[in-house]
Amino acid sequence: MSCIKMVSTRELILLCSILSVSSTAKILGVFSFCSRSHFVLGFRLMKELADKGHEVTFINSYPQQVPIKNLKDISVEETIKHASAYMANLTKFGEMDHWGQMEFMLGLGRTYAEVVLKNKNVQNLLNSDERFDLVIMEHLWNEAFVIFAQRFKCPLIYFSPGPTSIFNNHLFSNPSPSSYFPNLLTGYGSRMNFWERLRNTYLDILSEIFVEFKLIPEQNDLLKAAVSDAPDIRTILYNASLMFVMSDISIHDPLPLQPSIKSIGGHHVGPLKPLASNIQQFMDNATEGVIIFSMGSNSASSTFDLEKRKDILKVFSKIKQKVLWKFETDIIEKSSNIMITSWLPQQEVMAHPNTVAFISHGGLLGTIEAVYFGVPILGIPRFWDQHKNIEDAVRRNMAIKLNYHNINEQVFGSALNELLNNPMYRNSAKRQSQIMDDRPVKPLDEAVFWIEYVIRYRGAPHLRPAALDLKWYQKYLMDIVVFCSFIGITCLLFVFLAWKCIYSNRKKIVSFSKKNK
Ligand SMILES: *[C@@H]1O[C@H](CO)[C@@H](O)[C@H](O)[C@H]1NC(C)=O
Repeated sequence: MSCIKMVSTRELILLCSILSVSSTAKILGVFSFCSRSHFVLGFRLMKELADKGHEVTFINSYPQQVPIKNLKDISVEETIKHASAYMANLTKFGEMDHWGQMEFMLGLGRTYAEVVLKNKNVQNLLNSDERFDLVIMEHLWNEAFVIFAQRFKCPLIYFSPGPTSIFNNHLFSNPSPSSYFPNLLTGYGSRMNFWERLRNTYLDILSEIFVEFKLIPEQNDLLKAAVSDAPDIRTILYNASLMFVMSDISIHDPLPLQPSIKSIGGHHVGPLKPLASNIQQFMDNATEGVIIFSMGSNSASSTFDLEKRKDILKVFSKIKQKVLWKFETDIIEKSSNIMITSWLPQQEVMAHPNTVAFISHGGLLGTIEAVYFGVPILGIPRFWDQHKNIEDAVRRNMAIKLNYHNINEQVFGSALNELLNNPMYRNSAKRQSQIMDDRPVKPLDEAVFWIEYVIRYRGAPHLRPAALDLKWYQKYLMDIVVFCSFIGITCLLFVFLAWKCIYSNRKKIVSFSKKNK
């Protein structure tokens, strides 16, 4: 008995030492984009890695006030100032054409990426003899950041704050035929009619040209400006090990995924904290239900023009539900069923059993949370992927989409009443919520597994798709087409010449025999 105990104890110690050797790594996380919702996505993952005992260095714009064990912040807060000046033009976004929208995004990316790479602490890090086992970077118009992986000679993981798209598929040569893979900028689902496929193809070609001839060269310049002896960006860009995408089958259509792309949508949800007592009380007392109204951190509610805001207030004054409205300043002439708050713990209020609807700009974060908690959405998309996020929820019968410019008392009122009173929306939302939850491994655990996997196999080169090493004409079988065409044409030519030869000989024979008659 004691012998068994001794062996098992020794084995336990051995196991522990193996685990501790293999399971603690030095990880650099680069999530410097100046938007709190993006920060939340990265922070949840970095915090989990730190909790698991990894030593995490975290470049971000929202450093912790209270230090967290194993997590060292490198603050690049100044990105917020620079980018918010840039984001002031956001209201014009809707009027831009697609090329203009991509240029706007690239401009935003350039603005903050430049600031990050020039930051003194970041420069110190780049020039230090620090050692990392892995770099995880948010992939968002900041390809130049791949320099971190090159500098520390370690594997690289991308973290995309959206689903697979024309802007990240190329990184792993993920199959994305325009026939069923909707462009991020269209709002289409994967079932498109002829005209939609035509437009989708056009936008795909346009986007690919943009990525190839504008985005990558420009990011290459950024990279060279930051680190003069850096190699060409492409040698690092296409050498990453893995990519996480914020997607889930409950939100996005089923589309191809290379084994090196992992969907972890919903990883950031929880753990829920207790609500502030005033909000808790307000929600508990709302026996007819609570509507949550938040236009996110980038397109704040104050960008709503005054006339529209008045119309919305009129609608709210006539309903029996209560409204919890995230707004930057208080609104004086509001009905008694409205509570204004400048800060909203979105997941916690969404989880409240009295919550009946979510009025949202359709940011991916909020959309994921609404699906997770099964809350129907009244979407007012303004910018970039927000149209797609809302359209996807509309196709799943759990949302109604409103065009911002058409909003008035009548339009807003009838949409809201439809959402609240037609049980289809609530039932569909509950069903999508169930689908999101129904998976073999929780998304956060899956993310941690794959991160440790990449570290264990030193970049896991066995996951690298062969397609990445093909030339474009090989990938699209152009060489095969040319070869087969050549053979085909040669054969045809041969047949034609042979036929001509035989025919003319026959003619000669015929005419010869005619002459001799
Ligand atoms: C490509 O990645 C592997 C594994 O992560 C690494 O060993 C190699 O040095 C990288 N190559 C380049 C050119 O960065």
